[in-house]
Parts: sequence; structure tokens; C-alpha cells
Amino acid sequence: MTNFLSFPAPRPARARQPGTVFIVGAGPGDPDLLTLRALRVLRDADVVIHDRLIGPGILDFARPGAEVLYVGKAKANHSVPQDEINALMARRAQAGKRVIRLKGGDPFVFGRGGEEVDYLLARGVPVEIVPGITAATGCAAYAGIPLTHRDHATAVTFISGHAKDGDPDLDWDGLARGRQTIVVYMGISTAGRVGARLIESGLAPTTPIAVVENGTLATQKVAVGTVAGLEAVIRDNGVTGPALIVIGDVARFAKASEPERWPLAAAE
Ligand SMILES: C[S@@+](CC[C@H](N)C(=O)[O-])C[C@H]1O[C@@H](n2cnc3c(N)ncnc32)[C@H](O)[C@@H]1O
Repeated sequence: MTNFLSFPAPRPARARQPGTVFIVGAGPGDPDLLTLRALRVLRDADVVIHDRLIGPGILDFARPGAEVLYVGKAKANHSVPQDEINALMARRAQAGKRVIRLKGGDPFVFGRGGEEVDYLLARGVPVEIVPGITAATGCAAYAGIPLTHRDHATAVTFISGHAKDGDPDLDWDGLARGRQTIVVYMGISTAGRVGARLIESGLAPTTPIAVVENGTLATQKVAVGTVAGLEAVIRDNGVTGPALIVIGDVARFAKASEPERWPLAAAE
């Protein structure tokens, strides 16, 4: 099969290839979590098309004179529809520009990166994917939660709490089995229903939870409780997002405190 998708391979020369769209994960917020590859591509791009959840200062790394376009989405407030974003990327690349499509976290984790790749490849536009640190691993690290601590969890599952109406469409019985960690993205408004469905399906109501808001940023807040009290934890702590919910025994390790940066904190 012929396509134009580049996989991680020898790098520097391709960064300058015009007419390519680089779909790049910017990590969960802290600019220090940008990968070197992301930084190189950002410094080199002619056009930067970015989302809302890009950490402070990251756009400062763009090349002076680059065209910077915001297409961010907040819940129920899609500033630029997805098909227009797709068309914009393709037009700029077909005009010979190096385009970076900069997304929060990782582009392939609840990031619609797959749809953008399909659209671009179908039009013959070369694409490279640059992975980023997803919110789950970034927030867990900065909140002190070992997602698969071997004494507590044999698996971790990332789920989306997003639901148009009713409950998110998920395998509740599978999720309610013990000794695993669940990380809920986009789950603040449905948290009460997610907690209730898990308990109905057999998860212990006392299972620890942690809610991480603005994870990895100076404004990070971590609130803890149990799955039975999940909705109240969110309400009582005024969590409005962006936030992640960690459900499972490992959430008992959460430090409801300042962001941690290990092992740098000790060295600084
Ligand atoms: C559309 S998803 C994008 C996820 C992204 N592609 C990733 O890999 O992290 C947006 C959701 O990610 C989570 N999220 C992103 N950044 C976050 C942060 N800094 N702190 C907490 N949650 C975050 C929130 O649940 C938010 O609603």
C-alpha cells in the first residue's frame, strides 16, 4: 500500500520538507513536556494551526513570521468546524507550506488525529505524526499516581466520558472489574453517571478516585475521594476543567498538592 504517512525514522532532513502536514502532540500543558521532535517541527513550520489546550509559552517557539491560526474547540463551542480545519491544512500544504497541526496531549488519543490523517492522505498530502505526552500520563506523573502500580493494577484503560445524551456508551461490566485503573477524559459533566454505572456494575463504592484539573500546569489542582462521591468531589472543589478523572486503587497515591516534577524537583 502506498501512502505518504511518515513513521519515526531518520529525521532532520524531513523537517524541512515543504508541503507536509505535521500532526504534533504538544503534551498536556507544561512546555517542558514538549518532545524535541515537536520543538524542531514547530521552529521550522510556516503555518501553525493550533487547538485550545496548548500550554502557555509553547507558541513562542514558533518561527518568527510564521502564520499562527487558532482553531480551538471548547465543549459545545467549536470555533472552527473539523471539515474547515481539514481543508485549511490541505490548502496550506498544497501551496507548498510546512504546516504544523498542534494539538494538546497526543494527537491519537481522543485527538481526532486519525480523521485528519485520513483526510490529508486521501488528497495526497504527506503527513507526519509526532506523538505527545497524553494528559493521562502527564497528569498522573505530576499528581504522583503510578497508573499501573504492580500491587494495585494490571491494566489501565483510557475512556471518554463524553456523551451527547444519556450515559457514555461503554463496557461497564469490563470497566467495573477490579485491579485496573480507569482514566476518564472529557468526563466532568458526566462524572456522576459514570460513577453510578460503575457501582451498579459491581465496582466497590469506596474505590479511590482522583480528579486532576489543569494537570502539569502551575494551576494544577488535585482533588481526591471515592467513586461514590465523585460528583460531589467535582462540585465541592469547583472543578470546571480541563480535568481528568483517575478511578482505581492507584488513585490513593494522589498528592492533593503542588505539581510534582520528578526527579527534577530534587535536582533543582
Ligand atoms: C479532546 S481531549 C484531548 C486529549 C489529548 N489529545 C491528550 O492526549 O491528552 C481533551 C480532554 O483531555 C483532558 N485534558 C487535556 N489536558 C489536560 C490537562 N492539562 N489537565 C487535565 N486534563 C486534561 C481533559 O479531560 C479534556 O477534556
